[in-house]
Amino acid sequence: MTEIKISPSLLSADWMNIGDEVDKIFEIGADMIHCDVIDGIFAPNITFGMPMISALRGRSKLPLDVHLMIVEPERYIDRFISVGSDTIAFHPEASKDPHGVIAAIKRAGIKAGIALNPDIDVETAREFIGEIDYILLMGVFPGFGGQKFIPYVMDKISAAKALVAGIDVYIELDGGVTVDNIGEMKARGLDAAVAGNAVLAADNPKEAVKLLKSC
Ligand code: DX5
Ligand code: ZN
Repeated sequence: MTEIKISPSLLSADWMNIGDEVDKIFEIGADMIHCDVIDGIFAPNITFGMPMISALRGRSKLPLDVHLMIVEPERYIDRFISVGSDTIAFHPEASKDPHGVIAAIKRAGIKAGIALNPDIDVETAREFIGEIDYILLMGVFPGFGGQKFIPYVMDKISAAKALVAGIDVYIELDGGVTVDNIGEMKARGLDAAVAGNAVLAADNPKEAVKLLKSC
């Protein structure tokens, strides 16, 4: 089994010093930088958009793991691609043309994922198998960092791993990941975990990444 990848979410970063935070995320041994783009319509918060991703791209040595929580991602997908996203996940129910969005991402040679809210069945992903590179399972309802993991999502990790058995699709979990629950997630085969609070609000973020990878 390969080591789990850790993707700290910028929602928990110090935005006044975002460049330093980007450097820090690299230095503490994380694998990607999770960028939560929220439009205030799909989910109840407003964060940032393409200009921020572009600025991050100019600074980050790590891949930018972009999570679009926006309605009609088809309207902006080309711009999120052109500013330098490395992986892009979106919520298919927010799109009028989810297959077209995936196709646009794939045409650009980057990774496409679909994000599933806690109350959306893993079976929803079946129609995208053969097109996507990953499934982003939400461990909380989108909007804010620092929420508590919803326990029933644990079984969805196993269901998602079963769905992608034998094919090259990885499973990433987003929301509520801590040192107390990541062990079970790994036992169920999880490939990557977003960790906002668990890493960036920790006293020692480097130790936190090490612990999340080892426990
Ligand atoms: C929720 C976001 C998550 C979240 C993760 O809307 O998609 O990425 O910020 O933060 P933690 O790890 O603190 O739950
Ligand atoms: Zn996210």
